[in-house]
Amino acid sequence: MKMIVAVVKPSVTEAVMDALAGIGVSGLTVSEVRGHGRQKGQTEIYRGAEYNVTLVPKIRFEIAVDDGMATQVVDTITKAAKTGKIGDGKIFVMDLLSATRIRTGETDSEAVAG
Ligand SMILES: Nc1ncnc2c1ncn2[C@@H]1O[C@H](COP(=O)(O)OP(=O)(O)OP(=O)(O)O)[C@@H](O)[C@H]1O
Ligand SMILES: [Mg+2]
Repeated sequence: MKMIVAVVKPSVTEAVMDALAGIGVSGLTVSEVRGHGRQKGQTEIYRGAEYNVTLVPKIRFEIAVDDGMATQVVDTITKAAKTGKIGDGKIFVMDLLSATRIRTGETDSEAVAG
């Protein structure tokens, strides 16, 4: 299994959720976060000569999937979240050691599948 973490612009949140539902993702977690990339948050807000780092609001998706779906999820998020402008975000993929559906006690593939 993989844990996919995607940090995207808030404006694409619904598009990403719709696209993920469209490929059969059955569960996900969304959080409001703040961060910065290589522009240090500056040029996304205004073009000043400030040197300070600014934190920009972003949305963080966490999606646990079977290995076989990971590439499709990454491709789908990339397409749905791309505006072509700076700050479009990043997608990170991590190996996931275990998953448990608390209600049933099902684990791993059974726990992350629909
Ligand atoms: N190396 C990183 N580690 C963790 N989070 C990151 C990292 N880089 C970016 N992020 C997160 O992703 C958000 C968007 O990053 P962003 O798209 O601006 O990256 P970038 O490398 O500056 O690319 P771009 O030049 O397209 O803006 C950041 O606000 C931050 O929350
Ligand atoms: Mg950036």
